[in-house]
Amino acid sequence: MFEKIERVPGDAILGLIEAFKKDTNPQKVDLGVGVYKDDQGNTPVMRAVKEAEALLLKNETTKTYIGSHGAPAYGQAVLPMVLGEGSPVLEAGRASATQSPGGTGALRLAADFIAKQLPGKDVWVSDPTWPNHLGIFPAAGLTLHKYPYVDSENRLDFDGMLGALKQIPEGDVVLLHACCHNPTGFDLSQAQWQQVLEVVRQRNLLPLIDFAYQGFGEGLDEDAYGVRLLAENLDEVIITSSCSKNFGIYCERTGCLILVAKNEEQMENVRSQIAIVARENYSNPPAHGGSIVSEILHSAELTTLWREELTEMRDRINTLRRDFVEALKPYGLDQKYACVAEQRGMFSYTGLTPDQVDRLRDEFGIYMVRSGRANVAGFSQANLPYLAKAIAAVN
Ligand code: LMR
Repeated sequence: MFEKIERVPGDAILGLIEAFKKDTNPQKVDLGVGVYKDDQGNTPVMRAVKEAEALLLKNETTKTYIGSHGAPAYGQAVLPMVLGEGSPVLEAGRASATQSPGGTGALRLAADFIAKQLPGKDVWVSDPTWPNHLGIFPAAGLTLHKYPYVDSENRLDFDGMLGALKQIPEGDVVLLHACCHNPTGFDLSQAQWQQVLEVVRQRNLLPLIDFAYQGFGEGLDEDAYGVRLLAENLDEVIITSSCSKNFGIYCERTGCLILVAKNEEQMENVRSQIAIVARENYSNPPAHGGSIVSEILHSAELTTLWREELTEMRDRINTLRRDFVEALKPYGLDQKYACVAEQRGMFSYTGLTPDQVDRLRDEFGIYMVRSGRANVAGFSQANLPYLAKAIAAVN
């Protein structure tokens, strides 16, 4: 039976990891998959995580199942991180947390939940969006549509976005990136979030907010502005949170599906359905990453250390953004790529074309997604001059 099955190309983002490893160019630069890197190009384990793991090793007493919603202590730690300490949503008992295998797992739970419980609702994503969004929702049987997000000059097209949101059929699902928009790095201002709230309210849309990079834009609370605004002002919101990046625990698959309902009663109803969706997908989430996060967030000392480390990562990325534009000055390209300094998070939609990206890879060993998305964390003081020279050569 298998002889009829065709081979397909691998994932465009994850495939870059292998391609980069195989490249023998000593000057090669990896700007592909979205993982944080230090100035030496390593993705280190955070000190707070190491300390939490040492405590876990010492104190852990069982490896029994943790249940379809995951460890309650994890949910109790993540909810205030996402929705805010003392959030009225939490006080009203309107939010449910389900530990998931990464942010991707949370997205798939959300997709299956929508497909099963809200039949006929389509999902609207930004154009462009994280390519995996384009796979996850149709895989759950949902129909996907796009709303504009970037204009032809590589700028945030907020008018286009808002105009399109106003046309979405009532009751459909609109996927929003909370911060550090992947792949563009263009984020909404607070005033723009307020306008989005109004349209979502008028059209009675269901917001699904992908929150994979909390803490990488402006700060843990600042990055949550849109999430908290919508959760506090709407009856129903779905949030998919990830601890992969802000705790640097990518391989531990640690995410959270947060459902905000109108009241506690309705929250418990949808929560019971989520348990079934999780059970049918993978039964229980992996425990270790959630235990690390909960160990850190339930300790004042470890939380302080973690926040410091996260701030260091964010500051480093934002400095590199400015330094990148500076490095292009001698080539007269600083204006052309000025957007890189304004964007936020791990990614920049550079405006480089697929042909230019191919040339950067083939001639210079510089790897990025063909859409022109660069992982800014892959920049370093050492490689910026080389990058600038290469970009000048393909311009
Ligand atoms: C990325 O966009 O590079 C990250 O979110 C990693 C992934 O799974 O694609």
